[in-house]
Amino acid sequence: MLAKIEELLQEVDSLTAGNAEELEALRIKYLSKKGVINALMADFRNVPAEQKKEVGMKLNELKNRMQERIAALKETFESQDNGTAELDLTRTAYPIELGTRHPLNIVRNEIISIFNRLGFTIADGPEVEDDWHVFSSMNFAEDHPARDMQDTFFIESHPDIILRTHTSSVQSRVMEVSQPPIRVICPGRVYRNEAISYRAHCFFHQVEGLYIDKNVSFTDLKQVLLQFAQEMFGPETKIRLRPSYFPFTEPSAEMDISCDICGGEGCAFCKYTGWVEILGCGMVDPAVLEANGIDSKVYTGYAFGMGVERITNLKYKVKDLRMFSENDTRFLKEFESAN
Ligand code: DAH
Repeated sequence: MLAKIEELLQEVDSLTAGNAEELEALRIKYLSKKGVINALMADFRNVPAEQKKEVGMKLNELKNRMQERIAALKETFESQDNGTAELDLTRTAYPIELGTRHPLNIVRNEIISIFNRLGFTIADGPEVEDDWHVFSSMNFAEDHPARDMQDTFFIESHPDIILRTHTSSVQSRVMEVSQPPIRVICPGRVYRNEAISYRAHCFFHQVEGLYIDKNVSFTDLKQVLLQFAQEMFGPETKIRLRPSYFPFTEPSAEMDISCDICGGEGCAFCKYTGWVEILGCGMVDPAVLEANGIDSKVYTGYAFGMGVERITNLKYKVKDLRMFSENDTRFLKEFESAN
């Protein structure tokens, strides 16, 4: 009997099974009630008393090693199992949610689409700019206090390199490489050194417009802006232009639209004036045309610039503009249907 056990112990490690059925056959052969090991257990009764201890230990060893071997073979099958047998194709898919377009992108795209239809093409420029394109070429004098209106981020060792404070810098970039007729809009991100609050952030988005040709007048500007306001906020929308100041336009104006919450009657949103401001605009200052290589005796032009956050706030009544950059999906999901 001892010899038989020894023989089986030799065999254990070389046992293999090619598939689950072969493994089950091994289990039945060795470990089932009628299996080899149980038969040996039954014979154990007949082992002479003085050999019982040694044979018993060997028999136990055989049983344990056989159980381990079969369990190990089973594990290799299970780790190879790719699960297809249990794949239930009728189950509902794991809910991977579709994202939504960001409200600022929805509004920016809408602005772009309106101006595209009016014949404006898109121009782009860098966010990391130099002083010339942001300020000097736009007719900001060296120490002019208007530079303080747009306090920006400077690099101490390179004060000439700045983050652009407005998309007006793209006007300069377009003019220096092209001649009129020019009709572009320039959407993009801008930066200012602002204390962050519900109404100001250190970065926001603008869309700039520039039109230069022969005989461009303030009337053209007004008509294009009225068209834009009515497409964006509805056909009943009225516009109002108030005189203002920008270094790069002369004359300059600020444009208000009739408050679309109270319809112009006056409410808390429009501070009981019936009007809300949405953009700055004006006729391009001849000094800007000249600084950027365009003959101001032949050409005239208009320009405008609007804040995308401001327009989004108006359209969707978002009160705190910090929400635009908090990445809270509950807020973003609100715009699912606006896509
Ligand atoms: N750049 C101005 C700002 O950021 C906005 C602006 C005003 C742009 C008048 C223009 C313009 O092109 O004509 O405050």
